Amino acid sequence: MTDDRKPRPETRLIHSGRRKAWTHLGEGAGGIVNPPVWRASTILYDDVAHLKRGTETNRDGDLFYGRRGTPTQWALADAITALEPGAEGTMLYPSGVAAVSAALLSVLKPGDHLLMVDSAYDPTRNFCDGFLKSWGVETSYYDPLIGSGIAALMQPNTKAVFLEAPGSLTFEVQDVPAIVEVAKAHGARTLLDNTWATSLYFTAIEKGVDLVITAATKYLGGHSDAMLGAVTTHKACWMSLRRTAQMLGQFVSADDSYLVLRGMRTLALRLKQHEASALQIAHWLAAQEEVAQVLHPALPSCPGHELWARDFTGASGLFSFVLQGGEADARAALIDGLQHFGIGYSWGGYESLALPVDPEKYRSATRWDAAGPAVRLSIGLEHPDDLIADLKAGLDRFRAARG
Ligand SMILES: Cc1ncc(COP(=O)(O)O)c(C=O)c1O
Repeated sequence: MTDDRKPRPETRLIHSGRRKAWTHLGEGAGGIVNPPVWRASTILYDDVAHLKRGTETNRDGDLFYGRRGTPTQWALADAITALEPGAEGTMLYPSGVAAVSAALLSVLKPGDHLLMVDSAYDPTRNFCDGFLKSWGVETSYYDPLIGSGIAALMQPNTKAVFLEAPGSLTFEVQDVPAIVEVAKAHGARTLLDNTWATSLYFTAIEKGVDLVITAATKYLGGHSDAMLGAVTTHKACWMSLRRTAQMLGQFVSADDSYLVLRGMRTLALRLKQHEASALQIAHWLAAQEEVAQVLHPALPSCPGHELWARDFTGASGLFSFVLQGGEADARAALIDGLQHFGIGYSWGGYESLALPVDPEKYRSATRWDAAGPAVRLSIGLEHPDDLIADLKAGLDRFRAARG
């Protein structure tokens, strides 16, 4: 039952980060709505005593040196934390990939073992197979649908389990609570790339996840003009996450923080439309004879659909579909002629994107066996009927090219 006195996530999105100290000039002086862009490197102190005092605290809210942020970055971090009940704080990074890497480094050391989901975002795998390997951390990949079966893969030195639910190319939904339970019993930390659902549709900390990673480049920013990553965690992991980020010199500009915080004010509204349009299009695609399978967590044809229905409160606008037969050139004929879809990387912006995806290149623990090539769609805020008409013409081109 919802407690009416506790603001709902939509309301928190509007008010969070707007502390009076960051928007008002003083008692009775009035205030502005948005925490402004505070750019800084040097912070000036009144005297040596104050300068020295600055080194003693290490918390957001105290100006110290530009790299530690200003009210603009603190406001964004506050707003992201406010979406995760049970969270202590959020660290910001210059990209989603930087957030993934720094989160892993905060819980691992040489000699440790990491369990990484086989459907993970490609650069996440690269970090494990490249940097972590040379640093002395061994990674094993596991089937995204493994659930509590992950217990069999735990080694005495397994210190972390990384999840991406759903996988951002193939959309298998993981059993997050089951994996968290096994990891906890083993004393391993869990990290979840929650970029697809965002904390609006999946509150991870209260489900037991230790570190929640969000590529804010996608839905939080929402306008395809800023790169930014975030990691949110609870008290037990907070200081280690913070120290790791500080030692790595991680910093996000006030300008980008402002853009992402501004994007977040409309996140709930945008996600609702992304969800509705993507669902309409996914159902339409599922009925087309050129389409072998639609990989959208809210459709029963998606592996792990029942877990999405159990654990998530919504779906965003990113999903894939598998074509019936044909080769890469027939898929290119479909994509190249689209009028309302851009061709490019990333997702979560207001504009629709279509991307050819080849998941077989990024697997080692499982096999990707599909009836034909796959396409990933990021459904934007255009009218869904226009997008469907565009895809219909695309499927006609695919059929003609496939022969
Ligand atoms: C699931 C997922 N996580 C993380 C990232 C990385 O985000 P960024 O592009 O901001 O580095 C991406 C980017 O596409 C992604 O799809």
